[in-house]
Amino acid sequence: MAKPAKVDDSHIRHFIGVEGLTKAQLMAIIEKANGYLTDNDGRPNSIKNSNELEGYTVMNLFFENSTRTRTTFEVAEKRLGANVLNLDIARSSTSKGESLRDTLWNLEAMTADIFVVRHSASGTAHFMATEVTPNIAIINGGDGWHAHPTQAMLDMLTIYREAKKPFEELSVAIIGDIKHSRVARSDISALQTLGVKDIRVIAPKTLLPKGIERYGVQVFNDIDKGVVDCDVLIGLRIQNERIGSPLLPSTSEYFKMYGITPERLALAKPNALVMHPGPMNRGVEIASSVADGEQSVILKQVNNGIAVRMAVLALAMEGQRKMKGI
Ligand code: CP
Repeated sequence: MAKPAKVDDSHIRHFIGVEGLTKAQLMAIIEKANGYLTDNDGRPNSIKNSNELEGYTVMNLFFENSTRTRTTFEVAEKRLGANVLNLDIARSSTSKGESLRDTLWNLEAMTADIFVVRHSASGTAHFMATEVTPNIAIINGGDGWHAHPTQAMLDMLTIYREAKKPFEELSVAIIGDIKHSRVARSDISALQTLGVKDIRVIAPKTLLPKGIERYGVQVFNDIDKGVVDCDVLIGLRIQNERIGSPLLPSTSEYFKMYGITPERLALAKPNALVMHPGPMNRGVEIASSVADGEQSVILKQVNNGIAVRMAVLALAMEGQRKMKGI
C-alpha cells in the first residue's frame, strides 16, 4: 500500500493510513487535537470551535455504515466552519451503475476540497488519492480490513491524555478479532511509531492474521496470561457474522474464553484503561460492567474523535494549501 504523501513533519496531504508517517507527524496531530479540547469531561461542548475550514467544502462519502466516524467527522467539519455535504450513497447514481471514478469527478466539479471516504473495499481511499482526484485531500474513514487511521489517532489521543505515562513505558493489549480488524492494524502501527515497546495481541489462532509476529507484537492465545500488568486493554468487535462459523463456535464460548471481564481486568495494572472502538457487543467481547465501569474510557474515545478529526481535517487543508503554494 502506498504511503501518504508528506508535506513536512507537521503537515499532511492526504490521510490514508498512519503507516509511513513519522512520530513528529503523529504527535502534531495529537497535540493539535489536544488543543481543541478544553476540559475532557466527556461532553461535546468541551471542544473549541475554530474557523480553519471556513470557505472550504468537505464531502462525506460513506459507502459503508457508520455511527461514530460519520457523525464525529460531520461535527468536526462544522466546528471548523466548513461547508458540509453528506452524499446519500443509497440514493446516488452509484446505485444505477455509475463508477466510483465518475462519481468522484462529478463531485470534484462541485468544488469539493476534502473527501472523507469509508468503503468496504481495502484500498479505496488510496485509489482516490492517487488516481482520481489530485486536487482534493482524501481522508480515510476506514477501508475494508486495511486501515482506520483517524480511529488509531483518537485511540492515541485517548492514551496520551488518560494513561499518565509516556508511550515508551506502556504495555498495550489488543484483544479480539485481529485478523479482520482495520483498527488493530492502524493501532499497532501508530503505537509502534509512538514508541510503545510492549504491544500484545490476544486472540484465538483462527482470528489472528498469518505472520502477525512480523508486526513486532507479542502473541497470546490465553487472555489470562496476555493481560497481566497491561496499562491499556483495547477490545475489538467480534463480527456477528463470524459467530457460528468454524472460526467461532458460539457467543457464550467466545465470552468464556476471551471476554474482557472484571476478573481479567483485575490481572492488568491497577487503573488500566479499557478501550473499544465500537460498535460494541456486550456479553461477547466485553462484559457490560467493564464497558460501563470506572476504568472505561470508551465514551471519551468518541469525544476525542471529534478533536482528532478536526486536527486531521485542518492539517490536511493546510497541507493542501502548501502544495498549491497558497
Ligand atoms: N469505530 C468506528 O469506526 O465506528 P463506526 O463504524 O460507528 O464509525
